[in-house]
Amino acid sequence: MDAALRRLQAAVWTQVCDQLDGIAGATAIAALSRHGVFDRLARGPLPRDVLLDAVGGNRGFVAVALKGLALRGLVSFAAPFDGEAELGLTAEGRQWAAGLARYAAAPALVAAAGRLLRGEGGAPPDASGDFAGFVAGPALLRLHDDETLRRFAPEPLPVDLEAAGVAAAAACLDALGWLERTPVPRLTPAGRLAVLMAPQYRYPLSYLPLLAGVETLLFGDPVALRDRREDEAESHVDRAADIRFSGEVFVRSSAPAFFGLVLARFDALPPESQPAAIVDMGCGDGTLLIETWRAITGRTARGGVLDRFPLTMIGVEYSPEARAIAERRLAEAGIPHRTLPGDIGDPGRLARDLGSLGVDPLDVLHVSKSVIHNRSFTPPRSAHPLPGAVAAGPFATSDGALVEGSDLWRNLVDWFALWKPWIGRHGMIAIEAHTVSPEIAVACRGRSMAAQLDLLHGLSCQYLIPVDLHLAAATAAGLVVAESVRTGEATLGHDYASFTRFTVPA
Ligand SMILES: C[S@@+](CC[C@H](N)C(=O)[O-])C[C@H]1O[C@@H](n2cnc3c(N)ncnc32)[C@H](O)[C@@H]1O
Repeated sequence: MDAALRRLQAAVWTQVCDQLDGIAGATAIAALSRHGVFDRLARGPLPRDVLLDAVGGNRGFVAVALKGLALRGLVSFAAPFDGEAELGLTAEGRQWAAGLARYAAAPALVAAAGRLLRGEGGAPPDASGDFAGFVAGPALLRLHDDETLRRFAPEPLPVDLEAAGVAAAAACLDALGWLERTPVPRLTPAGRLAVLMAPQYRYPLSYLPLLAGVETLLFGDPVALRDRREDEAESHVDRAADIRFSGEVFVRSSAPAFFGLVLARFDALPPESQPAAIVDMGCGDGTLLIETWRAITGRTARGGVLDRFPLTMIGVEYSPEARAIAERRLAEAGIPHRTLPGDIGDPGRLARDLGSLGVDPLDVLHVSKSVIHNRSFTPPRSAHPLPGAVAAGPFATSDGALVEGSDLWRNLVDWFALWKPWIGRHGMIAIEAHTVSPEIAVACRGRSMAAQLDLLHGLSCQYLIPVDLHLAAATAAGLVVAESVRTGEATLGHDYASFTRFTVPA
């Protein structure tokens, strides 16, 4: 790739990252502003818990929102983020706070993004700054997902804006430098690059239902907003869009590192000693299972002896919607499979359910992608010594209570200990997403997606932590980190994902 194209790509990526931050943060900023949080921060640094006491609301979610702003460099918030940590506005934050009044329109932008995603048009006039992604995101997704339009790339793309459903977003795309409207509407080179990056919008836009209710989450009754019970539809996230994004991420960027670990486990053993099944906890739309089946059967010797050593792909899900999609896709692909309801917090139940299917629960390879951080938090049972200052959190539980990073880390130690009895023979291969400290996120501004990911995960009670803490928790639980690969540094400037094979000491 030539240098000019690389520079353009980096500039467009910065625009996209800013917009993702805007989508994730706009309604939280509006709520914090309405409740006087920025007025207090502007008066000077004050301890976190003094601020939380003064503004009221749900301490966990308010703290999560403040940390989101720290990752954007707007609020100063230094590790270990405990109750004594001094909070204030950074120099950039002071300038930015002068424009807070416009955030009152944020809920209207969330509603507009929903309409644009449904192809209903009618973009609001104010789609600049933190609001641009609400309008540009749905439009780019339209262009990205439309096969007919995509076929023209990389030539200048003649866009029938009406037909593509992006007419309402034309002014916004034009202002971003992504669309020329005359003489004929067409995407600029920057716009074509933005279309290629469009899948990144799927994740924050899948949280529109949550973002619409952020005022309630932070300052009202958060329980009414949440629904994580098995066998009921979830209300805070568009799960179909979320798992589609996850499947795309797996195919685009996770598969090579993941297969590196999985295929080696098959190639290293004679077929009779290899796993009888692969169990994907949180199987989403089944992409990981489908791709892994193809890789094992196509690239390892097991593929030639499946008649004697059959392999079953087992998808486990707490979302009935996702489970149904995975079931359908695995069946359509003709892959020997089963799907089960289950939760990552209950490996004992999984073992019993596998037993009832006639599968030896110890003769499986456990895998998961981005699910460990979505376990439920329960107060830690033990007081493991912390691995230094825990630069994670704070976090929230679904009722809005605040969880300190140290307790969250100990809860993760408990979680690894819970799985220890079930992973003895073949181990567990986990793909996990990670956050970073505000210092690292700020140093990587313009490249990093940490701020929006941290905020959206935190608001939906998902517990992202830095990779070192993740691995340290497994070790504290008595597991062995047999192999671990990290990714993110080259593209985002910091570790973002880990691929780890955990085993039990011999
Ligand atoms: C990031 S997606 C991974 C999808 C799939 N493994 C893949 O890569 O193609 C996470 C999935 O885990 C499910 N999930 C989240 N928390 C869970 C939990 N506590 N127990 C079981 N499944 C969960 C979600 O419904 C979602 O479908």
